[in-house]
Order: sequence, then C-alpha cells, then structure tokens
Amino acid sequence: MTKMDPLDKVGLEVRLLLEAIDSCYGYDFSHYAQGSLRRRILNRVSLSDLACVSAMIPKVLYEPAFFNLFLKDMSVTVTEMFRDIDVFKKIRHEVFTQLQTYSRVNIWHAGCATGEEVYSMAIMLKEEGLLKRTRIYATDFNNYALDLAQKGIYSQDKLELFSNSYLGAGGKASFFDYCHVNHGSAKMLESLKQNITFANHNLIKDQVFAEMHLIICRNVLIYFDQTLQNKVIKLFRDALVHKGFLVLGDKESLQFNSVGSEFDEYDKSCKIYRRGSYD
Ligand SMILES: C[S@@+](CC[C@H](N)C(=O)[O-])C[C@H]1O[C@@H](n2cnc3c(N)ncnc32)[C@H](O)[C@@H]1O
Repeated sequence: MTKMDPLDKVGLEVRLLLEAIDSCYGYDFSHYAQGSLRRRILNRVSLSDLACVSAMIPKVLYEPAFFNLFLKDMSVTVTEMFRDIDVFKKIRHEVFTQLQTYSRVNIWHAGCATGEEVYSMAIMLKEEGLLKRTRIYATDFNNYALDLAQKGIYSQDKLELFSNSYLGAGGKASFFDYCHVNHGSAKMLESLKQNITFANHNLIKDQVFAEMHLIICRNVLIYFDQTLQNKVIKLFRDALVHKGFLVLGDKESLQFNSVGSEFDEYDKSCKIYRRGSYD
C-alpha cells in the first residue's frame, strides 16, 4: 500500500479495516484502486449509520452478513449481453476460427458478474458449431452475482437491448430462440448452460485454471492497481495455452503490465491479446 498523509485519518482507518479483513478472511483488498475503494467504504458507513470507518471492523469480523455486504460493495456487477458488439463480432469471426482447430476448447470468463457475457458467448459458440466441444468456466468472487448468473434469468426490460446487440454482433437467428419469456422475465435455455461451470474464484488469492484457449476478463482490472493487475495477468499467462487468447475491457490494456511483453497484440481496438511462446 502507498505511504499516506499522516493526517489522513480516514485513510488510516481504511487500512486497518483492510488488514483486519485480510487477516481474518485472506482477502487482500489493499491493491484495489484506492479512490473508488474509499468511496464505497464511506458509502457503507453512511448506509449502515456508523460513526466512522473503524466501526466497520468488529462488524466485518463478527457478522458474516455484514462481511458479505462489504464483499458486495467491492463488486461492481454492471454488465450486459454482447456488451461492445465489435468485440463479440471479432471473437465470432476471427478467434473462433482459431478455436475450431482444437478438439476440445476451454474458455474462462473471469469476473463474469451476473452472467450475461457468458450466455452471449454460449449463444455464439452454439451458432458456430463449437458449443458441444467447449467447457466454459464462469467465475466471480461475488456469490450473489454468481447465483443470478447460474439461474440465467433476466428482466424483460432489457430484452430489446439484448436482442439488438445480439444482431449487431452477428447473431444468425433471433435472441428469443435462446430464452423463455415468462411473467416479465427471460430464462436462458438449459441447453446453453450444459457446458458452463459456474464457480466462486477470487482473482486476488485463488489458483489458476489450466489449459485455457480463451480468457475473457473485461472491466475487472480497472478496479485494481498496477501491482494487482501484474499479478492477475501472470495468472492468466500461466492459465493460457501457447497462442491462447486474452480479451480485456475497453479501458484496460497490457501497456504497463510487467508480463505484457509475453503477449502479442492481436487486435488493439478490441483489446484482444495472444500469448506468445516465452516459457
Ligand atoms: C463490472 S463487472 C464485469 C462483468 C463482465 N466481465 C463485463 O464486462 O460485462 C466486474 C466483476 O468483477 C468481479 N470482481 C472484482 N474483483 C474480483 C476478484 N478479486 N475476483 C473475482 N472477481 C472479481 C466483480 O464481482 C464483478 O462481478
């Protein structure tokens, strides 16, 4: 953690809170981007009617429900189907062409939030004849979001947007062929879920998944400082097969990453990288 202004008492309290959480649960949030971390903690202090940040310490230590609230606060789960249609188009038309050469394909969605990105991928894989031979690992450290992802039920209000993005990203049929619409919500087809494994995985501390051909980790690294980004990209490097693909979010890149040179830039605007052979 960076050295702080000695008068920054809130900063000191935040540091003590994070140390308590790390010692008790093994979750080290000290490398999350500090500005947004502090904003979210102060928001929780106010919502819970607490006097100060330190008052959160006994609560996170002794009240599991409060600790879960803290985890939820640390997790921004904004997502949607076929978010950034050009990226999905590129994956469908170019990355999949490479994946077709493998008899079995492993894909990891790290930080999948409520699952929309994962179902978008499953739909494209199905349309391109790849779903049956693919295993998708969809992970997040937020159990609440993972539960929604596993259920695959989305509000009907979003369906028009999802359908337009599906078509914009090169969809070959109708988005409504992939869900059952009922009582104001849409449930994704069970057949799409068969090849998806949803699992809790914390990028700060958990082990690597092996032999991945494609890793999608979009809009997650923006919440991490450079040290944690370096650590997570190393994890992805170790998880990828030679020439495996890594897709980052619009505002993320490998430019300043300590292992960035071990990847080739495959598509700059879509933030698609490829692991080189630097074992
Ligand atoms: C903004 S969402 C991104 C969702 C999706 N990838 C997308 O771009 O549409 C960020 C997700 O990263 C997850 N996340 C944040 N820190 C994490 C960590 N240490 N380990 C695993 N997931 C994490 C959050 O829980 C959240 O669901």
